[in-house]
Amino acid sequence: MTDTVIPIFDLRDHRYRSMTPAIPARLTPPTGLVTDTRGRMLHDLRISVTDRCNFRCVYCMPKEVFDKDYTFLPHSALLSFEEIERAARLFVAHGVEKIRLTGGEPLLRKNIERLVEMLARIETVSGKPLDLTLTTNASLLARKARALRDAGLTRVSVSLDAIDDATFRRMNDVDFAVRDVLDGIETAQSVGLAPIKVNMVVKRGTNDAEVVPMARHFRNTGIIVRFIEFMDVGASNHWQMDEVLPSNEVVRRIDDAFPLEMITANYTGETAERWRYRDGGGEIGVISSVSHAFCGDCSRTRLSTEGKLYQCLFATEGYDLRALLRGGHSDLEISNAIAQIWRDRTDNYSEQRGDPAVRLARAEQKIEMSYIGG
Ligand code: GTP
Ligand code: 5AD
Ligand code: SF4
Ligand code: SF4
Repeated sequence: MTDTVIPIFDLRDHRYRSMTPAIPARLTPPTGLVTDTRGRMLHDLRISVTDRCNFRCVYCMPKEVFDKDYTFLPHSALLSFEEIERAARLFVAHGVEKIRLTGGEPLLRKNIERLVEMLARIETVSGKPLDLTLTTNASLLARKARALRDAGLTRVSVSLDAIDDATFRRMNDVDFAVRDVLDGIETAQSVGLAPIKVNMVVKRGTNDAEVVPMARHFRNTGIIVRFIEFMDVGASNHWQMDEVLPSNEVVRRIDDAFPLEMITANYTGETAERWRYRDGGGEIGVISSVSHAFCGDCSRTRLSTEGKLYQCLFATEGYDLRALLRGGHSDLEISNAIAQIWRDRTDNYSEQRGDPAVRLARAEQKIEMSYIGG
């Protein structure tokens, strides 16, 4: 039985703090390269298009908080597709090469394929197409995969926390079946969205028995499973260290069943450490934000559904980019404001997590994953 935890304040009516970004006095055109205080480059923009989701995954949107009284964002607060496209172009001019659409569940946003089409037209500074991808729970993927591919989406990452149906239903907490996720994955594969990655959040004692079965199921399919350590993101998921299964244990268990060897990263700042099956059965990844922080070369920035810019998944305060987008400012002004925010960036929460004072200071103010995306 799970304990009912009564939060100190009502998380269901939580409003996050933000500040209006300053526009620097001296305006300079973007150079395609901007580095933060730790020398990290901007490479990856993650755009949340809705804070709503039809799942209630226990580690992300627990039912007792995200219930019928939870106040989701009103429609007027959402960035329009035109505003998102404008912002995306400004980020790409600073060197962004990958855009990931997230949610909540991004496929719940009406006409999402139109946004994909608008973003797919943007070229990187070096004139290449963007790596344009999306994170989804796959509940609508079978229906939408072809339209998304036609609109220019490159690939998708699908969340799936177990191959055992009963365990998966317990994790998503809305009785959604594994079979329906697999149908979505198969459709995405058949229309050529590739490579497909499957993200499994591992909670010790809840679904860790599924690590090897998940590896077994997706071996030899071309699909890359990434095993993610349960993180203390947000303020509502009752995170506890003893529910984290460290990635070295994940690798050990899989290696015992199917021998593995480590392979090199695809790019600097990749979240996953990559391993491949020695028998040629494909690859897996482990994402070890808790046991092995990867803030050192974190090149990710995040734009929330309502246009607030967050420099870290564990941030407590965002920059209100929407105020600039709707405030009559020129592209050059907004571009300079964005560059300055990145230059001033110091974030490295996962490296500081071990410090109880840091954890406590942020405990109830961290943004929820459903608000900013995975
Ligand atoms: P690829 O583009 O395929 O390399 O994917 P990605 O790893 O950049 O993105 P994805 O959304 O698939 O990331 C998988 C999971 O890793 C997320 O859902 C988060 O749980 C975690 N994650 C992603 N980015 C960060 C980050 O910057 N910090 C931390 N702590 N965790 C992250
Ligand atoms: N810990 C780790 N990953 C999480 N996600 C959501 N909540 C958490 C958490 N507490 C990630 C998962 C999911 C994506 C949408 O967000 O990877 O697939
Ligand atoms: Fe929805 Fe994804 Fe969060 Fe699950 S992890 S509740 S599917 S946003
Ligand atoms: Fe980047 Fe923050 Fe994640 Fe560190 S904790 S990798 S700074 S998003």
